[in-house]
Amino acid sequence: MSRVAGQARVPVLTIDGPSGSGKGTIARQVADRLGWHLLDSGALYRLVAVDAERKAVALDDDEGLARLAAHLDVEFAISADGSEQILLEGSDVTGAVRSEEAGIGASGVAVIPAVREALLGRQRAFRQAPGLVADGRDMGTQVFADADLKVFLTASADERAKRRYKQLKDKGIDVSLAAVSRDIVDRDRRDSERSVAPLKPAEDARILDSSGKPIEEVTQTVLDWVSNI
Ligand code: DC
Repeated sequence: MSRVAGQARVPVLTIDGPSGSGKGTIARQVADRLGWHLLDSGALYRLVAVDAERKAVALDDDEGLARLAAHLDVEFAISADGSEQILLEGSDVTGAVRSEEAGIGASGVAVIPAVREALLGRQRAFRQAPGLVADGRDMGTQVFADADLKVFLTASADERAKRRYKQLKDKGIDVSLAAVSRDIVDRDRRDSERSVAPLKPAEDARILDSSGKPIEEVTQTVLDWVSNI
């Protein structure tokens, strides 16, 4: 591993892609298998939206939102049953963070440059030995432009909508496939067309299409790539 000024350089694997591409699941599995840290950057944008709701900061108040982003008091933990737990100022907001509303709010706050800037240092602080798997939209293009391996995970819009629909149904949320499909298309458009850090593959990213592939196969492909870096 290379050394900079006597310090070991911590390797980073970035996994970017649109909603429903499976990057959250793949990133978690790859991080577990490698024993590396995991950054779920989308959760940070979702937390800004949840915090704004709790503190009645308007979603068009750029300065107020950037202040929230800069001062988020958050802890990512694993509860006794192995499920994720997200604590905001000590209270459990896991359900709120994973809600559709938070996803839509996150996509809105994510267009504000001052919010993105405020979250940069916090995201980079996750880079700790022995390595980091970073999941998001701009991990390979902006936050970890020097990553050792960049993966851009895609899947057809149809398949992504079906996966998301199943996830929501499994959580007991009553939605229609048509509505989920519409949300996915809208969110993709907003994330790809924004002027700051839009969703797009880094020039040196490897594109991986997960359509029709079991999770284990996609995870293994990424692990094979990591073993060659
Ligand atoms: O991956 P997710 O669904 O949790 O992300 C929620 C929103 O946050 C997504 O619509 C866009 C935004 N986001 C972003 O702009 N940059 C990231 N690195 C991660 C998420």
